[in-house]
Amino acid sequence: MRIRSFDELTEAQRRTAALIEWADFSAPSHPERADRVRVGGRPFQRYESLYALEGGVPLARVGSIRVPFRTRVTTFEACGVADVATRPDAVRRGLATALMEETHRRARADGVPWAFLWTRRSWGAHRAYERLGYRDIYSPRIAVKRPSGAPRPPSATSRGTIRRAGPDDAATLDAIFEVATRHRIGFVPRVPRTFEARFRLGWREPAEFWILRRGGAAVGYLHAARDRFDTISREIVGRSPSVARALLGELERLAGRRWIAIGNTTFVRDAADELRCAGYRLLAETHGTLMACPLLPEAARGWEELRRTVADPRFSLHSGDMI
Ligand SMILES: CC(C)(COP(=O)(O)OP(=O)(O)OC[C@H]1O[C@@H](n2cnc3c(N)ncnc32)[C@H](O)[C@@H]1OP(=O)(O)O)[C@@H](O)C(=O)NCCC(=O)NCCS
Repeated sequence: MRIRSFDELTEAQRRTAALIEWADFSAPSHPERADRVRVGGRPFQRYESLYALEGGVPLARVGSIRVPFRTRVTTFEACGVADVATRPDAVRRGLATALMEETHRRARADGVPWAFLWTRRSWGAHRAYERLGYRDIYSPRIAVKRPSGAPRPPSATSRGTIRRAGPDDAATLDAIFEVATRHRIGFVPRVPRTFEARFRLGWREPAEFWILRRGGAAVGYLHAARDRFDTISREIVGRSPSVARALLGELERLAGRRWIAIGNTTFVRDAADELRCAGYRLLAETHGTLMACPLLPEAARGWEELRRTVADPRFSLHSGDMI
């Protein structure tokens, strides 16, 4: 077995590698897209996709990115692992484990103290991660509501005005996030120009974001993906509690009579009281879990601090923060 990065694959190997993603029900273009941004130099320049090859055929892949993480006492660069997959005809031969170990080795060589990843507690992968030293540290809360009654009228001017974002609003969204999370901990500060990259990579559509302005200033935003039946929000970020309340009101207005589901955003924790008052049903965890693994000996002494960080009300984590 050989390990190669995406750049080292031949064109034919890249085409074969697409089978790995597709076998896992994901569209197979992702590494190529991310790599284009990496080669372009910003902002995901530390994105890396490693492949395990046998006989020149790519059989497994692990992607990783470097992201800032702030605890209550320090900020460091963490390794965010994603896209762990092995072709079904090559599983249980240690390929995913070998790629993870190589990903860790490279991160460790750069002095990166911790690795994080998302998975489900019920998956076989969870066992593999535990064997590598990962432990569950956080599960996002979720909130749902089925609105009854008529859709709300357009927003009152006292709450500000809201408008849908366009591709040119990436910098505005990044700036709102930066100000709103300046005193928070967790996956902050974000890599500069995160929204620009999300839009360029097609990971998020600008039209799914709505910007709230008050007194001429952009003070908050919300993500709302709507179809005929649901409105799903994976990110609600406001510069103050009153902005958070206004954003929730706007989300309900946008939802009309559709179900509203809010998840993978610490907004559910920040605004738990408002959500309950507004009739949402809340669940304190999901099957999804954020796992952490210490990569350096001194990090292994920091489990307690890490657990306190994710339990702290200032903890910030929204869908897509990591990758
Ligand atoms: C999960 C996955 C990446 C594992 O890849 P792999 O190359 O088979 O992993 P490894 O051979 O390194 O497995 C290491 C250990 O993980 C655990 N494991 C892996 N697959 C498992 C399964 N289906 N059920 C239970 N445990 C499993 C075992 O403990 C295994 O060690 P063992 O074979 O000695 O018992 C692969 O099954 C896959 O691509 N699944 C679909 C995509 C996916 O779920 N990705 C993870 C997203 S978070």
